[in-house]
Amino acid sequence: MLRSAALLCFATTALTAQSDHGFGAVPPVPLPDLTAHDQTGRTVSLRELLAGRRTAIQFVFTDCPTTCPLLGNLFQRVDKALPAPEKEPQLLTITVDPANDTPERLAAWLTTFRHSARWSALRFSLGDLNQLLRTLGIQPGPAVAHSLQIFIADAEGRYVARTTALPTAAQVISALRTQPETSPHPGAQLYLSATRFVATVNDEPLAPIAARCANCHGAGRTGQAEGEVQVPSLFPRSLLTAQSRRGGPPSAYSESSFCQALATGRDPAGVQFSSVMPRYQLEPRACRLLWQYLTNPR
Ligand code: HEC
Repeated sequence: MLRSAALLCFATTALTAQSDHGFGAVPPVPLPDLTAHDQTGRTVSLRELLAGRRTAIQFVFTDCPTTCPLLGNLFQRVDKALPAPEKEPQLLTITVDPANDTPERLAAWLTTFRHSARWSALRFSLGDLNQLLRTLGIQPGPAVAHSLQIFIADAEGRYVARTTALPTAAQVISALRTQPETSPHPGAQLYLSATRFVATVNDEPLAPIAARCANCHGAGRTGQAEGEVQVPSLFPRSLLTAQSRRGGPPSAYSESSFCQALATGRDPAGVQFSSVMPRYQLEPRACRLLWQYLTNPR
């Protein structure tokens, strides 16, 4: 039984055409905004976890006796070879057996490989796992048929490359270093990370972690509804197209009205934002970078 499972693991080592480096770039695909549990049992948003740093992703299940220890061993070597600080790039192990792989089991598995702070493990619901697999071009199947390729996401949470099956540590590092045509915009950093903005809500100062645009507008800029609070999307189209905002007359943003809105809390039609949207005192350069990032029609 174990043997046939092991064979299946190897049988699905489909080799796609790859470059000499052992990896292939793919057109960037945003990964879905799903929630999962990590090895500590904490609920995490995939988008937020991926935002702001490159990530190598592998799929395993802890009962897998053959290829999964090899994959664990691979990430252990990548982990040791990457420079400190142990945050960026990050390594992510995702279980393909959510029914069995509790956070405790995932924690024990990571400990086996003496993981550093850059390496975590996630368990999605089966439905969400399958959605994620399909986004990566993998046909969901039995756990033993999991992929042996390593998948690379960029600092904007987009899937940008994959390696051959069971690559070497050097190939994973090389894939992580490659910046496909889309190196992150400097404005993305401002948008996604806890930058030292001077920001206030109700005139009270905000800590950088609470002032992060992506907290509310989402790493994918999709906005969200949380209870009473409606956070708008920040796509080029939503900012640049004249439309009624907050019940006011139709208006569109320009760089200057955008920067003014962030500072004063009034949109281009002069309508006041709710107090949930912080007021920001940004350097003109920082505001320009944010504007360019948000209106870049990529
Ligand atoms: C604490 C949550 C929060 C944070 C952090 C936040 N926003 Fe907002 N933002 C909101 C909410 C809520 C609204 C909607 C306000 C309303 O409609 O009254 C909003 C509205 C906006 C709008 C108006 C969009 C439109 O269509 O009129 C822009 C632009 C905007 N935010 C940009 C940003 C930027 C850039 C950052 C980071 C520098 C940021 N926001 C950080 C909550 C937030």
